[in-house]
Parts: sequence; structure tokens; C-alpha cells
Amino acid sequence: MNILILGSGGREHSLAWAIKQNPKCDRLICAPGNAGMDLIADCADLDILDGGAVRDFCVENAVDFVVIGPEAPLAAGVADKLRAAGILCFGPSQAAARLESSKSFTKEICDAAKAPTAAWARFDNADAARAHIRAQGAPIVVKADGLAAGKGVIVAMTEEQALTAIDDMFSGQFGAAGAEVVIEEFMEGEEASFFVLCNGETCLPMGTAQDHKRAYEGDKGPNTGGMGAYSPAPILTDSLQEQVLDRIIRPTLREMARRGTPYQGVLYAGLMIADRQARLVEYNVRFGDPECQVLMMRLGAQVLDLLLACAEDRLDEVRARFADDHALTVVMAAKGYPGAYEKGSEIRGLDDLPSTSSQQVFHAGTKLSDGRLRAVGGRVLNVTARAPSLRKARDLAYEMVDAIDWPEGFCRRDIGWRALGE
Ligand code: AMP
Ligand code: GLY
Repeated sequence: MNILILGSGGREHSLAWAIKQNPKCDRLICAPGNAGMDLIADCADLDILDGGAVRDFCVENAVDFVVIGPEAPLAAGVADKLRAAGILCFGPSQAAARLESSKSFTKEICDAAKAPTAAWARFDNADAARAHIRAQGAPIVVKADGLAAGKGVIVAMTEEQALTAIDDMFSGQFGAAGAEVVIEEFMEGEEASFFVLCNGETCLPMGTAQDHKRAYEGDKGPNTGGMGAYSPAPILTDSLQEQVLDRIIRPTLREMARRGTPYQGVLYAGLMIADRQARLVEYNVRFGDPECQVLMMRLGAQVLDLLLACAEDRLDEVRARFADDHALTVVMAAKGYPGAYEKGSEIRGLDDLPSTSSQQVFHAGTKLSDGRLRAVGGRVLNVTARAPSLRKARDLAYEMVDAIDWPEGFCRRDIGWRALGE
């Protein structure tokens, strides 16, 4: 079959790498793709937020199946446009994607589903929000309601910080995303991510991972899209996964179906775990990036069968088969990220690295120009390894990092520290 993957990050490169290995995949197209995806697929220049353009492209190129990687096209309704044209597609409708595109919507769903999460209140004016913060005290969490590219959450350790966040959000710093604000109880605990394939009320767990959100070692510095990840997340034991399915995921799916907006795609539950109880921090309606890279490394070719079963509503016929292994990915980013960074620096040494079922470099912001590989984004490479132990996977990944010649890049040297007990 002909398959189109929408997106251009490390997440989409790892999806392409896994899907490409499945014999069902004939032609693989990525839009817009990156230099890494260009090596294994045809890359097409396509506005992936324009559902009509994506649909027309699929018709012209006889695409049988579309996998939507990032949240923006989902929130823009690209999946709806494709399904209306009878094109098989992996990813939720615009209405169901509100589980990521509106924080207050998710909170309403959690309340209706009685799913455990932080106590919350919604405000559309600054005075009432300030009064609420003064009444609750710190620590407290302030969130812009809409999509804010991961920058709309302020975990305020003092009342002062929370009040400043309110000023910033209502002064329009977050654009339309900040017109409404959700203020939440601060939850303590350890965070982990749980990925579940869903169609209507059927669901299939697809693995666990832990991310490293802060830019620098020791979980210091500004928040980023994620600087590294590993899978599995040891804190998400089988029994805790069952608890999350019973108390959070299935009730959410029931409530979405009851409202006439059933969910189809991967549901990424960001969880806070304390005293062996999990509460929901947030939902995302897509795979995590870089969490996807470690899941794909562990699952390989079967990923296509799982995503197809999800899209075709046959989830009860399949299972994710995990080996007893561990995967770890180290993100290499341009110096300055997540703030301002230079574009165009050259990356050398990738051609000499192993490219196997247990060692891969997934590209994010890369481009080939004049035959040279150049960094054109904030997060640029995902150096990924799989091994029987997490320690070995970590060592293999850093061996590859050390062989990459890119003075303008940086990475954290401590990915995996929590699970390795360091
Ligand atoms: P989100 O964009 O909702 O994932 O939030 C970004 C990060 O903020 C999360 O990964 C958590 O580390 C933190 N966070 C969000 N909500 C809370 C909360 N209620 N309590 C504690 N930390 C939170
Ligand atoms: N790595 C976090 C995310 O994808 O949202």
C-alpha cells in the first residue's frame, strides 16, 4: 500500500523508519519531511495544515493510508477532510483533538468521566484569576487554554510568579491561546507517559516512556519539547497501567463517544504518579516527541499493523508485542534552544554511524544543501539505541553522540538518570 506520513520531526522520522520495514508498505511518502526521511521515503512539499490540499494530494498519488504525526493538522481538522473523502487515516477528528487543543475541555471531560486529575478553575478575566491565586496560594499551575506549542504552562512556585503569568497571558503574549486561562492545583510526584491506541471505546496499550523536559542536566533550565526519553518507564508497572486504563482512559473514551465525538488514534496520557496512584496531567492526541522514537525503536515493523488496525477499528484483533528490551534517545539541539539559535551549521559524522534495528539517528530539524547536512531547527537529531538493559542502551546512544561532529549543537549527558537510579 501507499502510505503518507504528515510531519517533519524526529517523531515522524521514527514512524517512517518503522513503517518502511513492514512488507505491506509499498511506497512511503513524507510531507514535508526532513533530510533523514528523504533517505528512506519520497518527500513532498505540502501544506499539511490544509486538509483540502492533503486530500487532493492523496487522490493524485493513490495514497491508501495517512498517518498524521503532529497536533496542528489534527486540530485543523485534516483527519475529518480525509475521512470525508473516504481516505483511511490514523488520527482523531478536530472535535476529538480538543483533548489536546483545549485544556478546559479536557478538564470538563475528566470531571464528567470522574477521572482523577488536579482540581481546576477556568477564567476569562484577569481580576478573577488573580483573586483565585491569592486565595489558593502557591505552588500553583497557570495554563493558557489553547495550543501554545508547549509554552503555555507555568508551574509557579510562588504567588508572585503565578500573578506575573496571569499578566502575561491576559496581555496577549500567548495570542488566542491565552484568552482563557486554567488554574490548577499543583500535583507532586513522578511523571510518566502512557500511549494507548484507541478507536471508540476499544483501546490497546502501546507502551510507556519518560521524557526529560528541561534543557539542561539535572532537570535544570527552561522547558523544551523534550531533550531525551526512554522506554519502558519502570514506574508504570502493569498494575498501574491497568489502573490508568480503568480509571482514566476508558472513562474518557466512553465520555467522548457519549458526546458523539468518539476518539480514534493514539491517546498520550501524561501522568503524575504518587503513592502508586496516577492522576492525569494532560492528554495529547498524538505520539510524544521524542517518546515516539523509543517506542518505534522497540516495536519496529509491527507498528504499521497496529496503526492500521486502529484506523480500521480492528484493535481487538491485535496486540503490541514488546521484547524484554529498553530503548533510549538523546536529543541533540542547536546551542541556544529553546531560545534563539543559529540555523545552517554543518553536521558531520553521521554516515559512519551504525544504522541497525537497535541503533538509529532519527532526524528532526535537518536539511541537505550542497551535499552537506545542515541544522535548520531547534531540536535536530535523536540519537537512539535499544539493548537488553537501559544502561547498555544509554551507553550505545552516547557512543554515537560522541562520534557526531557538530560543534554548534548540545545535548544533555544525563538522559535516563532517574530510571538508572543516578
Ligand atoms: P502540559 O503542557 O500540560 O504537559 O504541562 C507541562 C508540564 O507542566 C507537565 O509536564 C508537568 O511537568 C507540569 N504540570 C502541568 N500541570 C501540572 C500540575 N497540575 N501539577 C504539577 N505539574 C504540572
Ligand atoms: N515530549 C513531549 C511532547 O511530545 O509533548
